[in-house]
Formats: sequence, C-alpha cells, structure tokens
Amino acid sequence: MKTSEIRQKFLSFFESKGHQIVPSSPLVPANDPTLLFTNAGMVQFKDVFTGKETRPYKRATTSQRCVRAGGKHNDLENVGYTARHHTFFEMLGNFSFGDYFKREAIRNAWELLTTVYMLPAEKLWVTVYQEDDEAYDIWAKEIGVPAERIVRIGDNKGARYASDNFWQMADTGPCGPCSEIFYDHGPEIWGGPPGSPEEDGDRYIEIWNLVFMQFERDAEGNMPSLPKPCVDTGMGLERIAAVLQHVHSNYEIDLFQALIKAAARETGTTDLQNNSLKVIADHIRACSFLVVDGVIPSNEGRGYVLRRIVRRALRHGYKLGQTQPFFHKLVGDLVEQMGQAYPELAAKQERVEQVLRQEEERFSETLENGMRILDAALADVPAQGTLDGHTLFTLYDTYGFPVDLTADICREREVEVDLEGFEQAMTRQRDQARAAGKFKAAEGLSYHGAQTRFDGYEHLSGRGTVTALYVDGTAVDSVQAGQQAVVVLDATPFYAESGGQVGDTGVLQGADAHFDVSDTQKIQSGVFGHHGRLASGTLSVGDALEAQVDGRRRARTMRNHSATHLMHKALRQVLGGHVQQRGSLVDADKTRFDFAHDAPMSAEQVAEVERIVNAEVLKNEPVVTQVMAYDDAVKGGAMALFGEKYGDTVRVLDIGFSRELCGGTHVQRSGDIGLFKILSEGGVAAGVRRVEAITGDNALAWAQQTAATLQRAAGMLKSQPAELTERIGQLQGQLKAAEHDLEQAKHKLASQASSDLLDQAIELGGARLLVAQLKGTDPKALRGIVDDLKGRVKSGVILLATEAEGKISLVAGVTADLVSKIKAGELVGSVAAHLGGKGGGRPDMAMGGGTDVAALPAAMSGVEPWVRERLA
Ligand code: ALA
Repeated sequence: MKTSEIRQKFLSFFESKGHQIVPSSPLVPANDPTLLFTNAGMVQFKDVFTGKETRPYKRATTSQRCVRAGGKHNDLENVGYTARHHTFFEMLGNFSFGDYFKREAIRNAWELLTTVYMLPAEKLWVTVYQEDDEAYDIWAKEIGVPAERIVRIGDNKGARYASDNFWQMADTGPCGPCSEIFYDHGPEIWGGPPGSPEEDGDRYIEIWNLVFMQFERDAEGNMPSLPKPCVDTGMGLERIAAVLQHVHSNYEIDLFQALIKAAARETGTTDLQNNSLKVIADHIRACSFLVVDGVIPSNEGRGYVLRRIVRRALRHGYKLGQTQPFFHKLVGDLVEQMGQAYPELAAKQERVEQVLRQEEERFSETLENGMRILDAALADVPAQGTLDGHTLFTLYDTYGFPVDLTADICREREVEVDLEGFEQAMTRQRDQARAAGKFKAAEGLSYHGAQTRFDGYEHLSGRGTVTALYVDGTAVDSVQAGQQAVVVLDATPFYAESGGQVGDTGVLQGADAHFDVSDTQKIQSGVFGHHGRLASGTLSVGDALEAQVDGRRRARTMRNHSATHLMHKALRQVLGGHVQQRGSLVDADKTRFDFAHDAPMSAEQVAEVERIVNAEVLKNEPVVTQVMAYDDAVKGGAMALFGEKYGDTVRVLDIGFSRELCGGTHVQRSGDIGLFKILSEGGVAAGVRRVEAITGDNALAWAQQTAATLQRAAGMLKSQPAELTERIGQLQGQLKAAEHDLEQAKHKLASQASSDLLDQAIELGGARLLVAQLKGTDPKALRGIVDDLKGRVKSGVILLATEAEGKISLVAGVTADLVSKIKAGELVGSVAAHLGGKGGGRPDMAMGGGTDVAALPAAMSGVEPWVRERLA
C-alpha cells in the first residue's frame, strides 16, 4: 500500500465514523509564540481541549505536518543514524472533543489496524498506564488481546506522571494517560517488548499512541480536570507505512525511496544505501514545509533552526562530492510525492526553490573553506579526542557552520567537541563587541529602592522624589552643579528606552536645582534612570522635583512609533504574512524598521505601503490601549514577537487596522501622525530588509526641501519642476550630439596631423619610413595616428614618439607586407633600450617607452639604419 493511500484510508475511515477531516495546520503555530513548531496533531486543537475555543464539530481527523528539530522535542541530531528519526514527519490522528472516550478510541484503532490495514492481530502489542484499569479491561475483555501482550507502564521517568504512558504536549497544557500500540517485526530482529530491558531494539515498534486527555497541567504543576474528557491520537505515517510495506526502516518506504533517488540524481551518487542521501531526503521535507509556512533562514529563532537544517543537508551533499547548489532541485520531486495531500506546497513551489537556492548560494561560498579549516584541525586531533572551542567558534563565526553541524562531522570521525570552550569564545566576543560599542552607563547600577511609576502615557510633566543618584557609576547622596549624573525618581513622565523607542529628554527642576535630561534608560526592569548634567544648584536624594519632558521631541517620536505599527501591518498586506519584525528604532527623526523578507521592494510596493498607511491616518480613528492577560491578547489577534518575553499582563495597542502588544507611547488619534513617507528601503543582512520612514512635521520639512531643490534645479535649467525630466532628456540629447561632434573633430585633426607627418617620410626601396616626435600629443592618441598612417602608406614602417613630464611613449607600426622582415615589437624594443625602457607588442603594432629624454634624438636617428639593414 502506497504512503498516499495509507494516509487517505486513515482519513476516510474516521470520516466514516463521523469525524470532520480538518486540514493540517502550519508548522508555525498560530498565535503561540511559546512553541517553536507544531510537533503533534493536537497542537491546533489545544484550546478546544481546554474549552477555551469551540468548533462546529466534536470529532476530527487530520494528517498533520510536524517538525521536531528544536525546542522540547528535537530529533535533528539522530536523523541519518537511525531507522526512524526525522526532522519532519506526518502524524495521522483522530480527536474527540468531549465526545467519545477510551472505549471508542480503542475499538476504532483496532478496527482500522486489523480490518483496513489488515495487520495480523497476533503481531500487535499494547501498553497502558499503570493505574488505568479501564483501558486495560477494554483491551483484555472487549478486544480480546491476550494478557501476555498487554503491558502496564508506570511512572518510569522519575516523577509523578512522568511516564512513557502519560502524554503531555509541553510543560503546561492538556495531558493525560495514554495507551500505545506496538508492532512486532518478528524474532529475526533484535529487541524486546515495551517495558523490557531490550525495548530499545528494533523488533517492537510503537505505531500508534492513544492519549486520553483528562487534565490541564498549569505552571505550578497542578492538574485540574478538563471540562470533558477528550481523545488525541497520533500515528506516525512513515512508521505505519514501513510496517505495511514490510520494510524495517522508514527510509525504505515508497515516498522516501523516491526522494532518496532524487537526492542521488542531484549529487551524482550511485550507492543508494548511503546515509547522506537519507539525511538529504529527510531535510528537504522539513526545509520545504518550513518555507511554505513562512519561515526563512536567519540567525535566530525558527529561522536559525531552518538554516541549520539546510546547512546540514548541504554538508551531506558536499560529502557526496556535490559542491554546486543542488538542494533546491529536490523541491519538484517533493511536490510530486506530497503536493496532492498538501496543496499549499504545490502552490508555493517556486518560492520554496528560490529561498533554498539563495541559502545554498550563501553557504556554498564558505562551506568549502570551512571544511578545509575543519579538516586541517581534525588532522591534529586523535580519535576519541576533542576539537577545541576556538575552532568551533571560528567555524561558526567566520564560516557559518552551526555548532551542531560541526559536531555532526566530528561525530562521524569519533571526535568530541568542546562546547564549553565554544561558549567561552562566544562570550568573549560579545563582551568585546559591547566594550567597543556605546557604553550604556544605565546597565549595572546597583539599586534597591522602590520601582519607578511611569506617568508618561497621559502626562508630559509631573512631580517625583529622588530615590537614588549616581555619578560615574557609583551611588552618591548628592550631586553638585556641573556634574554628569543619573537620577532615579519614584515617579516620572519620562519614557525610558524600550521596544525600539528612544528615551525622553527634558528637564528636572528642584527648588535649587536644574538638571538637563539628555536620555532616559532603565537601570533595572521598572527603574528609570534620567541621564544628564546638573546645570545649577545641588541635588540630593529625597529632593522633590518637577519633571518636564521635551514635548516636541516626544510628539515626533510618538508619531513615528504609531506609524511603525501601521507600516508593519501594511508591509504584511503588501509583501505577505512572512513579514516579521526583526528590529526597530524609533526616535524623533524617523522610524527605522527591519523585517524578514528576502527581496528588494519594488517602487510600486513602497508606494502601496505608503498609500495604505496614509489611508489609515486619514481615517483619524482613536488609538485604544488595553491592559489584559497575555493569553487573551494573543487570542484577540494581537501581533506578538516571537522570542520576546512578555509578562502575564500585556498592553494591547489598537491603531487603525493594527493590533500589537506594545509598551511605547503613541498618538491619540491616527490622524495625529500627519503625512507618512518612506525615505529608503534596502537590505541589512541576508533575508532582512530595512525601511526608514518619516511622519508629521518631518515629512512636511522633507516635502518642502524636496520641492525647493526641484525648484532650484528647474531654475538652473530655465524650466519648471514639472518639465524637468523632459528638459533633462533634451539636455542629454544635446550633450550626446556635442560629444559626437567633438569626437569627429578630433578625428579630423588627427588625420590632418598624419597627412602633415607623411610629408616627413623617406623612401626606402619602395617602402616608406616615417620617424617623428610629436609635441603635446596625448600618448593614448599615438596608436590611432599610427593606424591611420599605416592605412595611407600601403607599404612602410612608422615610429612615433611623444614626451611628457620626463616620460617618453613610443608606438611603432609595420604594414603587413613587411612584417616578415621587420617586427614592430623588435623595433620599439631596440629604440626603448636606448631610452632606459622597454617595449613590445604584435609584429604589426607595438608600444614602448623610456625615461632618458636626452637620448631620444640619437635613438630616433638610429631607426633608419636599423630598418635599412633589415630591408636589404
Ligand atoms: N499527541 C500524541 C503524540 O504526539 C498523540 O504522541
């Protein structure tokens, strides 16, 4: 039975039992930034189990694409070394949301295996959770599995509920006891039944896990019951296919064989058993689907996992001798195998190929050099030795070798890697980079007082009491006029730099003190440090101060920040949902926004983003902020940044069509932003683009300056701005015509000069000899003149010289009829030799030079006898 048939039969079987066939969800879990990748069929139903979400059906069945290559479940390192590990796999599952429970789940599973897939009952073993008598009895009494093939498994992993037969998705979330079904591959294969000391062998293989979801584990480890008991099952498609196709390795099933053959074709490999082919076949699936689901290779988060997998595949290609990009060429083969079951793959084939090809090209430049470094280093390491951390770091930092890639190669050569040394080298570099960069005095100040209350969302001025003062990084009781210091207040309207928005500037005014604030930075989470200089008076801990933020600067910053949210959303609309924020800087001058996208934006796309943002501005809707539980915010569709840490409660900011989690300060209505204009778009790193844009009075100033520049330019051309391009076109035409005329005039002059020269030529037995020194002629023009003269004399020898600033240039020409006797190169060479120089070239045309200007007349007179001798 082909893999595609097995998949289809599973879904149809459960459909016939009243289940809704639901499409696979993407590998990037929607609105769950805590989970790296979808790693089981139940992920898309997590909230349905807990009752937070309801669906129009109570039973569902899916074939879910999953990745286990990073995070809690990570199989990357085992791929290629075992028969059953994959980075990407498909999980067939059926789900009950408070509908049926253990009995029906077990009966359905048994029926499918024994009557649809026709597996012999005596080859099947089952396990149940130690305390689950109910499941045990169903298997034993209702299904009739003999007691010797039912195994109870307890808490075998060292803690309560830590068991192979108690399943949980992550540290928190829905969980429950489970019952697993095993297939016995027969006594010719080594291994023992589940629960036995030999269970890790390949004889008894788990094929299906039936989870009886009953509890929801919270962060404290409490396990309240779910509103209703549910069922979640998972059967690895590749495993069941191996069983049904009577092979022992997942890599021998039809789908993988097709991909392995394709990998062999692209790498020129004949040995289809080569492990590297398995790695490549596995990795093309993970990489292609990750790209389909919006991940692009990068240096962090999901993008880095993708990059590591791609690079691992390329390294195995390299091992097979393929040094040219090849990996992307397998996408078509994958589409052939899986495109029908996953139309989204077929639809994005071109994009996937493009992203992978770019990543291949990027890495292939350094792969070879990195391998050379690694080979050289490994040559010095004995077997069972250790590769040092410094080499690991160099490979990582300079050659883009992820550490696990280097470790993978070392493992093949039975060498350990010094991960600790790698971490140290990494930390050293980070420290150096930090020391070289701007020193942020705010970090590292010790503080034990109360946190700062931030009043700056509503106010630009307010009162606060000094809770700490620092000079040169040390806490002090008071500050004197003229000193630079950091002032901490118990309450302040000054915004401290965070979320990309710069800190406020302004003034702190006391009864006897005037402190100019040049920046505001958090010295700890929730503690605001005002950096600046005490212009006059004395400032002491305990003093009450009036705080006044520079309102003009803040207003500009706010406009830019609010515009950033609208722009982020507009970019996603115009370029696609893969656009994700990679970094941002918002200050009074501009917003600078970095985002994941791998091609330059066209002028039309830029204009479209501007149009969308300005349309939102013109709607002039109020900006609404709400503080709410993180889960509610994400459920409400707020954009959260992957990898950011958010607290339990978050601030949700709605502006126009955008909703984001944000702690920054914003305008009150979208119209406050004023005109929004993008000034530039460019690349900053592989797969990351940067846009800079301006708003409000900055945009007005830009528009006015641009108009003034155009006006001046038009004035200089005696034209109008609207006619400028036409006028420039005209001028370019005139310039071209003038250049053409000039060229012709030069030509005429040269030809005139050569006619005059010809008068100086002498007759030498039918041929003519011209030897002349030209004054003030550009050496570059000599060649043209010699060419021209050659054409006129028909048969002759020409040698021209010119001198400028002590350097003599020579050009010799010989007509074709004479080259057998006289070689231009030799002629030039003999003259140049007298001038302390050299020369050479073709027999009919040669160049040379020298520096002995005084010797030039004699050298020139020597030409005639030299030529005469050879013509004779
Ligand atoms: N969610 C269960 C598993 O992944 C079925 O094994």
